[in-house]
Amino acid sequence: MMDVVLRELTVRDLLPAQALLTAALPYDRSDVVTAEKLLASNFRRDRFSVGAFSSDGELLGVMAQAGRWIKLIAVKPAVQRRGIGSALLRAAKEHVVQSTGTATGASTKLRMGDHPGNYLSPGLDERYLAGQAFFRARGFGEAARLLNLRAPVRDNPLITEERLATLHTAATEAGYTLRRATAGDVEPLLQTVSGSFAPVWSFEVARALGPSLVKGEATEWAEELPEGPAVHVALDGDGAVVAFAAHDGNNRGLGWFGPMGTLDHHRGHGLGEALLLGCLLDVRDRPEGGVIAWVGPVGFYSRACGAVPDRRFVVFEEL
Ligand SMILES: CC(C)(COP(=O)(O)OP(=O)(O)OC[C@H]1O[C@@H](n2cnc3c(N)ncnc32)[C@H](O)[C@@H]1OP(=O)(O)O)[C@@H](O)C(=O)NCCC(=O)NCCS
Repeated sequence: MMDVVLRELTVRDLLPAQALLTAALPYDRSDVVTAEKLLASNFRRDRFSVGAFSSDGELLGVMAQAGRWIKLIAVKPAVQRRGIGSALLRAAKEHVVQSTGTATGASTKLRMGDHPGNYLSPGLDERYLAGQAFFRARGFGEAARLLNLRAPVRDNPLITEERLATLHTAATEAGYTLRRATAGDVEPLLQTVSGSFAPVWSFEVARALGPSLVKGEATEWAEELPEGPAVHVALDGDGAVVAFAAHDGNNRGLGWFGPMGTLDHHRGHGLGEALLLGCLLDVRDRPEGGVIAWVGPVGFYSRACGAVPDRRFVVFEEL
């Protein structure tokens, strides 16, 4: 077991943390989202981001936690298999036990990956075999398998300005207005998302709207994007928001799509498809533009934009 000193990470640790994550996690673009994963808000869950340092101050391991979720854990490749990952995991367990307390009855079982609202990926990429062996050896079992899709955003006849124009015309004829969200939409949009879908989605949508429209926790470490607010909305004849689609609300800068939703009564008019397309056209130049993370309705995305299975993940939980 190698001797390490554990302490919470600060902004001064971002550069070495970025280098470490890039080396240890070759299938993730953590280089783009290091600050968001380590230092930005986890919506309602407690943030705890810890580094393991050598006696001369070199960063050797990183763990980021949100409540009982581990968002990422990584050890510098040259010093793996010397107990550093285990030390970080023990710190995670101590923290969750301490911060949850005994009175609440809430679970303190650690879980890896699928932390709603702020996650690097929705589980452990199936190709990270050392990671899988590590979690199994430390008393975790498989809790779920999840899938990311990816829509090819270039040379795809389903993702073109022309098709977007056709879908917009159909929506206009049906009495709707489709456009990029503006400052006036922020409040009604976030209320609709929170009330009719999920509060944590409103956090992602707030981050997607960006720091010029939303001040506060959701846009900590969020930079402005060239296209402006990364949310497209559909309004009915009375001007009420009835559908939305967002991108860059989690892992901002990568071009990941989601979340999206259409209110029940307004489904079946092609609104979702049109808003999805608006988003995908925005992200054509992003490092991972077109990734649709942690999907539910695979059939919808396959038909609407030719999305195909991309990465597969295992979610681990303490047994
Ligand atoms: C997962 C990871 C953080 C483990 O860190 P580590 O410091 O190497 O882990 P430890 O030394 O504490 O290993 C503890 C136990 O896990 C198991 N284990 C760890 N790495 C393993 C490997 N490559 N093969 C098989 N078992 C392994 C072993 O049982 C090990 O105990 P042992 O060495 O006494 O046999 C490290 O492998 C890593 O950074 N991987 C890349 C990043 C990653 O996949 N992170 C998870 C998703 S974010």
